[in-house]
Amino acid sequence: MSERVPLCKPGFGKEELKRIGEVLESGWLAHGPRVKEFEEKFAGYIGAKYAVSLNSCASALQAAIMAKSLKGEIILPSFTFPASANAIVNAGCVPVFADIEKDTMNISPEDIMKKINHNTVGIMPVHFAGLSCKMDKIMEIATNHDLTVIEDSAEAIGSTYQSKKTGSFDIGCFSFYPTKNITTGEGGMITTNDEKIAENARTIRGHGVKKGAFEREKLDKPWIRVSVMPGYNFRMNEISAVLGLTQLKKLDRFNEKRRENAKYLSKGLSRYKQITVPSEPEDAYHVYQMYVIQVSESVDRDNFVIFLRNNNVEASVHFEPPVHLHPYYMNEYKCREGDLPITENVAKRVVTLPMFPSMTKKQMDKIIVTICKALEKCKQ
Ligand SMILES: Cc1ncc(COP(=O)(O)O)c(C=O)c1O
Repeated sequence: MSERVPLCKPGFGKEELKRIGEVLESGWLAHGPRVKEFEEKFAGYIGAKYAVSLNSCASALQAAIMAKSLKGEIILPSFTFPASANAIVNAGCVPVFADIEKDTMNISPEDIMKKINHNTVGIMPVHFAGLSCKMDKIMEIATNHDLTVIEDSAEAIGSTYQSKKTGSFDIGCFSFYPTKNITTGEGGMITTNDEKIAENARTIRGHGVKKGAFEREKLDKPWIRVSVMPGYNFRMNEISAVLGLTQLKKLDRFNEKRRENAKYLSKGLSRYKQITVPSEPEDAYHVYQMYVIQVSESVDRDNFVIFLRNNNVEASVHFEPPVHLHPYYMNEYKCREGDLPITENVAKRVVTLPMFPSMTKKQMDKIIVTICKALEKCKQ
């Protein structure tokens, strides 16, 4: 049996190991100088004034909403990981799902317009699989209706729209989970140009205490800790931060490799009329955190994915069911099948193929050949 092509694979080297060793030797493992350095470098990379590190993107999304004191409805796509909607609920707001565009699989600005009412306070565009949403249109809608935009850029670290990085349009939230464009094991980040939001987010992530241990060391009485709100422990640790610092240096190279691999796969797959390869509109720089194709109605999608998996190509599906059809959202928000026709159709047609920077030509050829066989076997 030939070797399995994994769905994803983080790219670590000796530098990560060396820097983790240094942290362990230093004895300072939580909210210290490396976390601060990672925040400064990440803010610089995204082009935002401030970056606040956290233990996940889920925490980042929740803290961002709370830092802006939003109360009301936030519009987001249902075609996403449940963390996007869960964060809205956990921050005390109401998720309102909008439909997506079939080609980009991103939230439709036209459907956002239809969902806006006097209770709407924000929009959470999710940059699906590494492709930016139509941020010019979304920012225009937000400005006209005085709405906050919280970009869920978990899947799009380094992607751009009209040459501007995702996560820099208003408030940005990122994930450093192992499947993402760079990883810190678990981790997240908020980016913003608003000093007050950054300060509030820091307070929320650290038990409601405004200054962390590293900053308090510079004060006359570093032992004084006072909560100004019932915060959380959403903090990133120093081991994650050095992973982030090392990975950040590799990010652009990783993304270029992902793009090269995507180009190779798309060239090999676009000859099959039953397959639609990922689209990349001219004004977007796609970073292919995932490589997601759509198969036509003539293909039995579920068996197609099972066939690939049984033949050592670790395919998957992102995302089925869409969030509005998860039991919690159906029960609490009365969401029903038929609410979002494009989302529901796309969820039944998508297939996520392996994608990672170190993927070899041999692995990609294996994916293409196995797909050719799968198309033969999985007609319906
Ligand atoms: C779109 C989206 N938002 C949020 C998250 C949650 O990220 P984390 O695992 O860092 O909390 C993910 C993770 O898979 C995601 O894909």
